[in-house]
Amino acid sequence: MEIRKTISDLRQSLVWHQQQRRTVGLVPTMGNLHRGHMALIKAAVVDCDIVVTSIFINPLQFGPDEDLASYPHTPDADIDLLQESGCHYLFMPSATEMYGKKTTDANSIVKVPCLSELYCGASRPGHFNGVTTVVSKLFNIVHPDIAYFGLKDYQQFVIIRQLVEDLCFPIKLVGIETVREASGLAMSSRNNYMDSQQRCIAASLYRTLRFMADQVKQGLYSISDLENQGLEQIMSIGMKPDYLSICNARTLEPANDETKDFAILAAAFIGSTRLIDNVRFQLDRSGEMLSKSGKSS
Ligand code: PAF
Repeated sequence: MEIRKTISDLRQSLVWHQQQRRTVGLVPTMGNLHRGHMALIKAAVVDCDIVVTSIFINPLQFGPDEDLASYPHTPDADIDLLQESGCHYLFMPSATEMYGKKTTDANSIVKVPCLSELYCGASRPGHFNGVTTVVSKLFNIVHPDIAYFGLKDYQQFVIIRQLVEDLCFPIKLVGIETVREASGLAMSSRNNYMDSQQRCIAASLYRTLRFMADQVKQGLYSISDLENQGLEQIMSIGMKPDYLSICNARTLEPANDETKDFAILAAAFIGSTRLIDNVRFQLDRSGEMLSKSGKSS
């Protein structure tokens, strides 16, 4: 694997592969690589001729009171993991390389409105503008054929899908299923902030989401009753919910009686650590639709 720290060096390395029409896959990350990231890289290695992983802790997607300064930065361990992974290029730019010497406020911003203001966007104003800006820059730098993102950040995935569609990026997006610890806790770099007792409590978040999904599938409760039950469960295990929402997995709007593709999205604090997770599932409502239109016998 070769490391590139500047945009021009990376572009120079990729141009030959692109002239040979080799498929280029991009795995954007903020480093501190874990099994979740490795699943993205593994999928890219299977699909693509050339795999580029980027490691960049993007200051633009952190709010002023967030954990930019303490976000885990483990370049040596990351490089060791990547050497074994089949990744061809690691792009590790500095903040100045990505944004120049301007203050972050003076940069051009790529914004996907509406979707970016919901859920995590409501709690972390400006966060998704930072994400869509850096992802657009990475797309323009690498020109990948395929880009890989984890579905743990499901709202991020939906927003990037909208970005690709709206700005006509000729890129296929692949979402990779969340990798979990044996307890069910979704792998995340922020898990490092928790002690073993907190990790144990945090694993219950996924149990609550699965419980809620089962109830929706069985049609046992109204959406809002179920959201309230879920919130109570999260609080009773010692976490502070930020949001918990049963929504339409395509639009992220609140689910209703017609919804077939569901996502249950959650964010909650354990101590000062903010975790997110989700479950997604489909309901076959064809029988209901037929009976509503009077076509069933
Ligand atoms: O999901 C992440 O790690 C980041 O939001 C991303 C997509 C690498 C952009 O900085």
